[in-house]
This record gives sequence, C-alpha cells and structure tokens, in this order.
Amino acid sequence: MQLAEQVVVITGASSGIGRCAALHLAARGARVVVTARRADALEQLVREIESDGGQAVAVSGDVTREADLRKVAETAVERFGRIDTWINNAAVYLQGRVREITPDEYRRVLEVNLLGYIIGTQCALDVMHRQGTGAIIQISSILGKRGAAYFSAYAAAKAGIDGFTQSLRSELWGTGIRVSTLYLAPVDTPIYQHARGKFGTIPKPPPPVSDPESVAKAIAKLIERPRNEQIADTFSFFYLAMSKLPSRGGDWFLHRTAQFTLSDIPDRGDNLDQPLNDVPRVRGGWAEPGWRGFTLRETVRVLPVESLLAAAALGFVTSRVARRIGAVGNGSMPRRRP
Ligand SMILES: NC(=O)c1ccc[n+]([C@@H]2O[C@H](COP(=O)([O-])OP(=O)(O)OC[C@H]3O[C@@H](n4cnc5c(N)ncnc54)[C@H](OP(=O)(O)O)[C@@H]3O)[C@@H](O)[C@H]2O)c1
Repeated sequence: MQLAEQVVVITGASSGIGRCAALHLAARGARVVVTARRADALEQLVREIESDGGQAVAVSGDVTREADLRKVAETAVERFGRIDTWINNAAVYLQGRVREITPDEYRRVLEVNLLGYIIGTQCALDVMHRQGTGAIIQISSILGKRGAAYFSAYAAAKAGIDGFTQSLRSELWGTGIRVSTLYLAPVDTPIYQHARGKFGTIPKPPPPVSDPESVAKAIAKLIERPRNEQIADTFSFFYLAMSKLPSRGGDWFLHRTAQFTLSDIPDRGDNLDQPLNDVPRVRGGWAEPGWRGFTLRETVRVLPVESLLAAAALGFVTSRVARRIGAVGNGSMPRRRP
C-alpha cells in the first residue's frame, strides 16, 4: 500500500528519529499516531504536522504499560479506522561497566527497549489480525547484532528484539502481516543527551553519524517495500565486518574503539525512569565537527598506534606509486604491451 494511504503509529515520537519519521511520513501523506511520555512535546509535533497540512493525533503514555499502548491502538482505529504500520521505536540508552550497572537499571532498559516492543507488537497484532493485513517495524541497532563495550543493557535488549521478531515472523507466515527490523548505526539524535552515564559523563556516538532524515527515508522505503531485515548506512557493514574479525579480533577492535563513545560532557539527568524536560528536537548536534562527526584529531587521540601505522602504510604506498609513475614517464621502465 502506498505511504500516502497509510495509517502509521510511531512510538518514541517526541524526539530524535521518531519525531523526524513522524514529520517525514506525515509530509508524504500518511496519517500518523504519535506516542511517547511527554504530552506537551507530542502536542507541539501534532501542531507542526497540521500546520504543514498533515494529519496526526497524539496519545501520551509509557511503552512499558500495556494499558497505555492499548489506548494508542484504540485511538488510531477510532480516529483513522485502522493501523497499517506500527513502528516500535521508543528506547532509552545507558553507558557503563557491567559491574557498575544495577539490576534495576538493567530491568528498566530491558523493560523499555524490549518489553515495550513486545507489548507494542501485541497491540498492533490485535488490530492487524482483525484487518487481515498490516506491517510492524522494529527500530533496532547494529549493537543488537554485535554488542560493544559499555552498552551491555542496550545491546541485550536489541538482541532480544531479534529472537522475538524471528519467532513472530515464522508464526505469522501466511497471515498477511509483515514484520521488519531496521538496524541503525549511530544517528545524530538527542539519545546521547538523554542517556544515563555511569561514568559521570554522557556517551557520544562513535563517528560517522548519520542524519535522522536519512533514517526517516529508510523507514518510508521499508513501509512501501517491506523486507525482513534492513541494515541502514554503509558504516553498519564496516562495523559488522570488523566486529566479526576472527581470533578475538572483534573483541580487540571494539575494546580499542570504545573510547570513541566517551565524552567529557557531565551527565545532568536522564530519561530512564522519567522523561527529561529538554526542548523536543530531532538532532543532537553530534554531526557538527568534521565529516559526520569524524575528525582526524579524535582518531589520532583514540588510536595513536593504529593512526601512525596507517600513515606509514599510506606514505609507503604513495611513494611506490609516485616512483612508478616517474619511471614510466622518463622511459626507464618498459611499458606493458597492450
Ligand atoms: N541515535 C542513535 O545513534 C541510534 C542508533 C541505533 C539505533 N537507534 C534507535 O533508534 C530509536 C530512536 O532513538 P533516538 O535516537 O531517536 O532517541 P531519542 O531522541 O532519545 O528518542 C527516544 C524516544 O523514546 C521515548 N521514550 C523513552 N522511554 C520511553 C518510555 N518508557 N515510554 C514511551 N516512550 C519512551 C522518548 O520520549 P519521552 O521521553 O517523551 O517518553 C523519545 O521520544 C531507538 O530505538 C534507538 O535504539 C538510535
């Protein structure tokens, strides 16, 4: 079904990717139902969509509460008659060493990031089974495919989404309901400012970060052409390839590069248990320095030995190529016959 004819529910729409996707999908004609905990941020989003000629309705709630998500589904049906696509997107972020994260913190991350997706899926399925059609999109992370240092709670939840969704997909065979998972690499959103940082500072995305608008476009594409799994951004392929290096190479790589995720910005509160009262926005400002947040200075700081080796290898290859070009140019080297 064309996007313009669809009714789309988006969880976690008060900020970042969810907010961006709601604006993007509504601008392309979809009727959107947006949910998150902050009612004022959602109302502001609905006003923005309506002032651009779109249609939207907001229902505030917590994804860990079944009654809240049931209300979201009921409102979508009451207001727009059906649900074509349900996007599970709401999540929280936490950085810390395994020994320093409390069981309550693990519980909360798993509740929001995994149970929230399960409850959301159940609410969507009730409506979609009645309709005989529909699609569910799980917004996941490359950390769900390969966990990395200091993000054990988040990675466990995202990996859990895979087990849940794969089981569901085989259960739903032949029903007309599709379930897709979109794996994202670092995106420039306020999730890092919202995160709980157990080091006293907030985490930052390792570069290169992608823009939420490109993720919104990937979501739109997935709505129009559903696939079981979609990996967004070429960086994801590099990350997944490097992290699968043999002989514990992946562990070494992720240990060495973990410093890219450490910032010196103090943690002044997070949205783990309660929403933060920050200005609702799409971007977090992480793409600004360098190329998509990637600077040579930071790379040399985090990986001094590897940077030196890379510079030496580059110098060696450049001098060999230059010498070869020079030799061909002055005739001291035989040209290859065609
Ligand atoms: N940004 C990245 O680098 C990145 C990379 C890979 C994957 N992702 C995934 O992309 C998705 C969106 O993340 P984002 O970067 O856009 O983060 P974000 O800007 O922090 O947005 C998270 C959203 O989730 C909502 N939320 C949090 N806890 C909730 C709860 N208990 N109940 C209901 N809503 C809740 C927040 O709103 P309220 O506080 O108002 O409830 C907010 O709208 C997540 O699934 C994340 O894992 C992000």
